[in-house]
Amino acid sequence: MASDSQLDLFGASVSPSSGDHTASPPGQTVADPVNFDAIPLSASVPIAPGTYDSIEAMTQHCERCQRCGLSEGRTNAVIGRGNPNAPIVIIGEAPGQNEDEQGLPFVGRSGELLEKILASVQFSTDREIYICNVAKCRPPGNRNPTPAEINACKPYFLEQLRLIQPKIILLTGATAVKATIAEKRGITKIRGQWFEWEGYLCMPIFHPAYLLRNPSRETGKPKWLMWQDIQAVRRKFDELRLA
Ligand code: URA
Repeated sequence: MASDSQLDLFGASVSPSSGDHTASPPGQTVADPVNFDAIPLSASVPIAPGTYDSIEAMTQHCERCQRCGLSEGRTNAVIGRGNPNAPIVIIGEAPGQNEDEQGLPFVGRSGELLEKILASVQFSTDREIYICNVAKCRPPGNRNPTPAEINACKPYFLEQLRLIQPKIILLTGATAVKATIAEKRGITKIRGQWFEWEGYLCMPIFHPAYLLRNPSRETGKPKWLMWQDIQAVRRKFDELRLA
């Protein structure tokens, strides 16, 4: 849990009496009561590893989070979907309009394509996969989250990873790469390679939105490269006997 000195800084302006604190996002169960006074309102206040004992508890905080300006425009905080015990986590950038409205990541056209890519190697969000984003709230106009917004939100996905303990992480898009392995080389250089980060085996892959803009399946084109990459992930999954 966070230290007492941190809790002192968390501010009392988030009132436990405002709103329905038992409400859960779609597909998640109601968690134990959460201490809403412990929401770190300022991004300068860290969220200590181990603060949350479940994704549900973290979700309830995220729904009231004001650590950055993105909170002002959100309909829903978008936390994750899939199997919370999955061996593979996919980290995307930030919610778009559909995700903000539904409170779930990757439910628009990018999400549809992502599901097809996963199904092509018999992966499913019911079993092997959990999907989340670096930023939990939608940036206006679907711009990329800023470095300050990424830093404000980063403790949340670190907590998600700590709770899920995946064996493999797929980083989709530049924001996910920046927030984790911090590789300076562009995605076309590093996609399909394995990196070790915080004890996790990570692979950067193209973002599905990029594939929607580049639909050719010809050899060497982004969609073909994605097919190579997802097969490499499947091979690693089988080799590590993660089923
Ligand atoms: N793009 C992302 O990176 N995340 C989403 O949830 C949707 C689109």
